[in-house]
Amino acid sequence: MVEKKELEKIEEYLSEYMDSDVEFLLKIGNYILSSGGKRLRPVLVLTFAKLLRGYNEERDYPLAVAMEYLHTASLLHDDVVDGADTRRGKKSANRVFGNDTVVLTGDYMYANALYLFSIYGDIDMIKNVSDSVKKMAEGQLLELKKIGDMDVTLDEYFRILEGKTAVLFGSCCYVGAALGGAPQEQKDRAYNYGLNIGLAFQLIDDYLDYTSTEEKLGKPVCNDLREGKITYPLLSVMDKLTEKEKELVKKVIRDLSPSKEDIDRVKSIVEEKGGMTNTIEKARELVNNAITQLETFPQNEYLKKLEELAKFIVEREF
Ligand code: IPE
Ligand code: IPE
Ligand code: MG
Ligand code: MG
Ligand code: MG
Repeated sequence: MVEKKELEKIEEYLSEYMDSDVEFLLKIGNYILSSGGKRLRPVLVLTFAKLLRGYNEERDYPLAVAMEYLHTASLLHDDVVDGADTRRGKKSANRVFGNDTVVLTGDYMYANALYLFSIYGDIDMIKNVSDSVKKMAEGQLLELKKIGDMDVTLDEYFRILEGKTAVLFGSCCYVGAALGGAPQEQKDRAYNYGLNIGLAFQLIDDYLDYTSTEEKLGKPVCNDLREGKITYPLLSVMDKLTEKEKELVKKVIRDLSPSKEDIDRVKSIVEEKGGMTNTIEKARELVNNAITQLETFPQNEYLKKLEELAKFIVEREF
């Protein structure tokens, strides 16, 4: 689905622009950058640019990797906030280098992205992207505020998703479309495509947190419940729970280290009541919304790729 050459170039540019004089910063930055990742965000930038106008390596790649730096910075910070031990199949950077240095490396990456936009981007892109970065912080803060809260609503849940994950996907598509010379209305549709696949992406991330294994994902599973976070699989069946089941959920999300047995019990309740299928269905609905946004774009191989990418998001296992 994604060309090998494109991925190789993304890797080249990612290391080229991590060029600090501070040895330690490079070490931490390269630690996370070299441990893989799906590189979905830069691929979205490049695919939208190519969909509309073809190839301009000098401008497209620096901005594509700038979006991956933003994502990487958010992962570095997220693992500190979530107290995660693993990321991309390795010990997480916070566990290897410590929270303090990892937070500062994340800051450096945010600034590095902004710097690349000041050179290769334009004010309209910077406005869109910085608005998303603000919303990412807001989304994650709202998520923190809702920890251990039994009464979190669907509306709040989707606000969290939109902020912490979806707007960045939206901006990748916006920037790609802008690079392709799209008029405002088309840039907005590209953004909406990204927003919808981003929501679906985080729904599936939350689903995989329930159903997958650390081996497959390369990061902890069942971490959301353990951290007191109610996500869509559970939220979608909340009104079907008995009082006793609700008590169990409350205990698990308020306990700082809930037992594996209790977590497994909540997992099987969610499964039984249909929470897993609800999540897949909701994600499919969002992916279909995303694909609808593509209707007025040129019908070429890159449009097909964007449709495939949207579908991959629901079918993915990692
Ligand atoms: C992980 O994103 C963080 C979320 C938004 C769920 P990815 O699953 O895209 O992470 P990498 O870059 O492939 O490791
Ligand atoms: C993803 O939230 C949001 C960001 C990375 C900003 P998660 O906390 O669910 O991400 P993972 O599961 O650790 O990748
Ligand atoms: Mg996390
Ligand atoms: Mg998190
Ligand atoms: Mg997650």
